[in-house]
Amino acid sequence: MRLPREIRTERLLLRPWRPEDREPFAALNADPRVMEHFPATLSREESDALADRIEAAWERDGAGLYAVELLDPGPGGTPPSGTFTGFTGLLPMKPGFPGSAGWEIGWRLAPSCWRRGLATEAARAVRDAAAAAGLETLHSVTSESNAASQGVMRAIGLERWSSAVFRGVPRGHRLRRAVVYRSPSSIADAEGRRYRVRRAREEDLPEIVRLLLDDRLGADRETAWGRDPEADARYLRAFEDIDDDGRQHLAVLEEADASAPGLCAPVSPLPGPRAPRLAGTMQLTVTPGLSHQGAERVTVEAVRVDSALRGGGLGSAFVRWAVEDARSRGAQTVQLTSNASRTDAHRFYERLGFAKSHTGFKLQLGEG
Ligand SMILES: CC(C)(COP(=O)(O)OP(=O)(O)OC[C@H]1O[C@@H](n2cnc3c(N)ncnc32)[C@H](O)[C@@H]1OP(=O)(O)O)[C@@H](O)C(=O)NCCC(=O)NCCS
Repeated sequence: MRLPREIRTERLLLRPWRPEDREPFAALNADPRVMEHFPATLSREESDALADRIEAAWERDGAGLYAVELLDPGPGGTPPSGTFTGFTGLLPMKPGFPGSAGWEIGWRLAPSCWRRGLATEAARAVRDAAAAAGLETLHSVTSESNAASQGVMRAIGLERWSSAVFRGVPRGHRLRRAVVYRSPSSIADAEGRRYRVRRAREEDLPEIVRLLLDDRLGADRETAWGRDPEADARYLRAFEDIDDDGRQHLAVLEEADASAPGLCAPVSPLPGPRAPRLAGTMQLTVTPGLSHQGAERVTVEAVRVDSALRGGGLGSAFVRWAVEDARSRGAQTVQLTSNASRTDAHRFYERLGFAKSHTGFKLQLGEG
């Protein structure tokens, strides 16, 4: 992949680094506001060494962090047009993080330029240049505490994907916990109709419950959304617990072209944004473990494809997506259990390469 060496946006110039950038870059890296979510500010030598590494990465990778220059002055002319204001660009994803074979998008701007949408403007331009160069999936990593950076991630369409830790930061330190965001992905059924796979949102709950009900076993144990406020509250609580947990991923499938035929209006949506009709859902849980020398495993549960869309290759594509997702996290195993009576589902999973390797046991505890 090769990125253009210069990108012009409405208010910014993303360009190669110049020797005169070093001084304002050092001032940026010495500013405690800029470095609030990093272990320490940088000395002049450390800042220059970082600039050297950025320039070397461009030579090596054909991509990297651009120097960002302001074309449009700030309010009252400060800072003036032409000011070096930080960096935005790509870097190879940090080793040891989920998705470490991929590319990360990052940014650091001077406080005099914050909250004007400039990081978002620069990052969108880099995202689009990367897509034009053939790179579809971007990652971005920051500490859990860095709301500003996560705001930029969401503004450019990335979704929270996984929790992680900065291994070099001591346990218990406020900066140890990290979040990894990633571009949403898409899959296609056997006829080539495309579906977006995205993280579930609260307003999707009525649709997710509809999919859970739309099933021979689910019909007896689920309650349609809106029928019983207590059941709704239980679904909502479970959703919040899943969504708050960085090792859980509740994925939903949404038709990429929502105007396409096949899906009708959603059922009784929650107040708030109108939720689209969903084509499928699945829950992924990442479990760290000591066995197999610390291997991580991903458990796939509650896989459902809308009954009107079954038999068209969508379920297979969805499970293959889950396997790829697990692989790119660095997990070593994907596992699932399927009710013993679901013999069709067992054939489905075996065709996708899953082996019936274990016998599962469950003890139902009932209503204690
Ligand atoms: C992260 C950073 C580049 C954001 O720059 P910015 O130009 O202010 O970002 P934008 O104006 O494009 O903000 C986009 C969205 O992010 C969120 N956001 C930005 N700053 C925020 C803050 N201080 N608190 C909460 N949310 C914030 C908002 O949702 C914002 O949209 P809004 O202004 O419409 O509400 C800047 O704060 C920075 O340089 N921080 C220090 C370095 C750093 O932490 N880099 C990232 C390391 S991973």
